[in-house]
Amino acid sequence: MRANGHATWTRRRFLRASLSSLVAAPLVSRCADMESPAPLLPMNEGLRRVAETRSCKFGAAVQAGQLLAKSASARRFALECSSLTPELAMKWERLAPTGNAYDFGDMDRIAQFARENGMALRGHTLLWHRSVPRWARSLMLRTRQWHHVRDHIEVVMSRYGAQVAQWDVVNEPLEIGGRPDGLRQNVFLEAYGPQYIDWAFWAAHDYAPQADRFINEYGLEYDTAEEGRRRIALLKLVEGMRSRGVPVTGVGLQAHLDLRKGKVYRDGIYGLVRDLSGMGLKVAVTELDVHEADTSLSHAERDKRVADETARYLDVVLDFPAVRSVSTWGLSDQTSWLRYGEDSLQGNRGLPYDERWNPKPMRWAISRAFGGAGRTT
Ligand code: XIL
Repeated sequence: MRANGHATWTRRRFLRASLSSLVAAPLVSRCADMESPAPLLPMNEGLRRVAETRSCKFGAAVQAGQLLAKSASARRFALECSSLTPELAMKWERLAPTGNAYDFGDMDRIAQFARENGMALRGHTLLWHRSVPRWARSLMLRTRQWHHVRDHIEVVMSRYGAQVAQWDVVNEPLEIGGRPDGLRQNVFLEAYGPQYIDWAFWAAHDYAPQADRFINEYGLEYDTAEEGRRRIALLKLVEGMRSRGVPVTGVGLQAHLDLRKGKVYRDGIYGLVRDLSGMGLKVAVTELDVHEADTSLSHAERDKRVADETARYLDVVLDFPAVRSVSTWGLSDQTSWLRYGEDSLQGNRGLPYDERWNPKPMRWAISRAFGGAGRTT
């Protein structure tokens, strides 16, 4: 099993092109078959409709405050998305900051909006090292009793289990440069050992056996030593879980693209998705956005670079039938974590809409990647 050095992406495309004259391809078998004619949808058709023509979903991360009735943002989410991911509202630290009670207010609002608009909901996320409340952290480390984690999983899954089709059971379990197995030295590992991942998946399986259970990971897109090692560590992790019979059914590729790292490494991404789907796993693009490198250029040039990078990435992953959904990490630059997070870039333009809800070339690039209509500028 190798993430790099296999038959290359370009070579495969060449072979497929030569074979296509001999073998008739099944019609709507894949998310976006670039060789089949694009359906002609009007420009104002939401991305959800464009994705639907390929039996795929388009979604975005959302904050509860963006869904206020009749707001511009709520209208855009309703038009564009067939899936929503809570950007914050389902994280442990948000749900139970004090340990006395759970506050489901924001998450309930998002779940209700999804129901009213016929959208899927991604369960993001049950366990993430960066969203463990202080009280839970000290309980885990002091008692080392698993039920503290299991109880949390039970509370969240019992409330939203009927609605959530895909759970990010463990978010970002890898850390390159530490342990030889690539597992992140987080509070869960410290309290329970590396088995915590298997246990979390078993718990998630118990509370929602019908749903999909994902590992969600970042830093898998570029041709750097670190990202190459992370691709391999991810494959090894899920391969090990599968061999132990652990009920992992999917892998989320966060896809926080970054123009400072150059262009996405298509062969590496191709090999990763090929190997994951070869194991029978679903693969979802879960947090797509683009960190810019140079904000001194014109808006037009910057937006073109963002759109081109998006297209380069989606062009590879949407070729796989295992990839049936793409979610961006927000819809508009207005609230993007790339503007306000710790690695933030003031004024970053890495999402489909600008801060005034004008669609940008990235939005059309996504549409085209799904086989829909799209402006070129
Ligand atoms: C981020 C949010 O966007 C920020 O607002 C918050 O401060 C931190 O978390 N990978 C993930 C997401 O899986 O949950 C993170 O979301 C971004 C990185």
